[in-house]
Amino acid sequence: MNITIEESYKKTEMLCFFLEENSIKINSNQKFNLEISNAVSQAVKDNGGKLGKISLVNISEKSLIQRILIAGIGKKENLSDEIFREVSGRIAIKAKDLKLENFSIQHPSNYPNESISKIVEGVKISSYKFDKFKSKKETSRINLTIIAPKNKKNIEKIHQAEIISEGVIFAKDISNLPPNECVPETLAKFASNISKNKMKCKIFKKSELKQKGFGGITAVGQGSKNEPRLIIMEHLKGSKKDKPIVLVGKAVTFDTGGISLKPGDKMDEMKFDKCGGCTVLGIMKAVSELKLPINVIGIVPSVENMPGGESYRPGDIIKLYNGKTAEILNTDAEGRLILADAIAYGEKHYSPKAIIDFATLTGACIIALGTNVAAVISNNEDLTKKMIESSKTTSEQIWELPLNQDYMDMINSDVADMKNVGIGRAAGTITAAAFLKNAVEKTPWLHLDIAGVAWTQIATKEKSYNPKGATGFGVRLVLDYLQKLKN
Ligand code: BES
Ligand code: MG
Ligand code: ZN
Repeated sequence: MNITIEESYKKTEMLCFFLEENSIKINSNQKFNLEISNAVSQAVKDNGGKLGKISLVNISEKSLIQRILIAGIGKKENLSDEIFREVSGRIAIKAKDLKLENFSIQHPSNYPNESISKIVEGVKISSYKFDKFKSKKETSRINLTIIAPKNKKNIEKIHQAEIISEGVIFAKDISNLPPNECVPETLAKFASNISKNKMKCKIFKKSELKQKGFGGITAVGQGSKNEPRLIIMEHLKGSKKDKPIVLVGKAVTFDTGGISLKPGDKMDEMKFDKCGGCTVLGIMKAVSELKLPINVIGIVPSVENMPGGESYRPGDIIKLYNGKTAEILNTDAEGRLILADAIAYGEKHYSPKAIIDFATLTGACIIALGTNVAAVISNNEDLTKKMIESSKTTSEQIWELPLNQDYMDMINSDVADMKNVGIGRAAGTITAAAFLKNAVEKTPWLHLDIAGVAWTQIATKEKSYNPKGATGFGVRLVLDYLQKLKN
């Protein structure tokens, strides 16, 4: 999709306006002929500005504008960035359904220019469809013109919003891949592709992982013929003395549970157990394309968790990268093992300013918060505060859970430094985070459990820009956090 900006409308197959509830006119300085004015009035009357309602009026074929679309955005006092994103997504879906080649959206002249970015995000992200494995593809080449002041600032805004949206789409696209088509090696290839000419990319294979002491990644990965990888991407565009932000993402390309095998129901969804890692790849892609003047490291431990003669077992005691030992009591609690290795590696080699990790870590997170809110657990108040601020900007909802010593004690083991499960099912999301906290020595660290939000599940609130499948949750959130750092 090509997006351009124009001061005034030109020939277009569909001209779209936003309308507030109870408002009798659209916000536009454009002058229209009688035919178009009438069409606008008719659509306004039909629409009434009801949130999410779309009204379409056709105009004669000779006209420069072939259709008028009015999209309701609800009451003025309830307006938000998210409404622009969501409603713009609906407009784009309508344009696609009508098989248009181009359409135009009037940016309301009385709204802050910031909403231009949200229009771009909504339109772009909603236009993505995972059809790689469909024989018949819906190829649509559609162009959008945004009607707004054509100044440098707005042009730059659109450009940035396009890069961010492409980061989200990339994360969704690789997250959606089936487990037979995406194994750890595949993710490593994606990482080196997006790094080309932009970032340094290191990949550790099985033998190196073993030799360097990545006991968690090695143990979880040993049951599959699809061998593990550790992916490390470096974006170093800040000053040399500026410590980096380390991003870590769980990428289990398929989680069967291993010897502690999961029940069959919905096991297919465990192809999404790589979403945390895919989020990190999406963020790194955008960070490098935005050329953010900061230092960011992306680390993605990737394995396939399979049962077999070579698999690790309940009862095993393994040694993690930081030298601590872990008693395995459930091979399905594998995410924390590979993350602990990656987090400890990130802290040791980069002495970062902060570590942020993303993981579809616990089913308990869905029980606690459902499928529209991710859990946050951190050892640092300031970092948490900043992330909550960004979450308000991007409308990717997060909620903090506590982690005090009582929870840390719940993973004490009789025979090793810790065990990889808590006590029964109590506080499952927190005891998983407690395990990760043991991998951090002194760095501000923030963990996002995205088990509920990484893909659409039955209780997921429908959004125009999140059709069935992976959501790319966290990409916009952490890009917002990183963009605010440079100021
Ligand atoms: N990948 C799963 C968590 C998960 C389950 C995410 C369902 C989304 C939907 C993780 O590896 C896992 O299996 N966790 C176990 C931990 C338990 C054995 C302590 C869980 O949540 O049941
Ligand atoms: Mg598991
Ligand atoms: Zn898992």
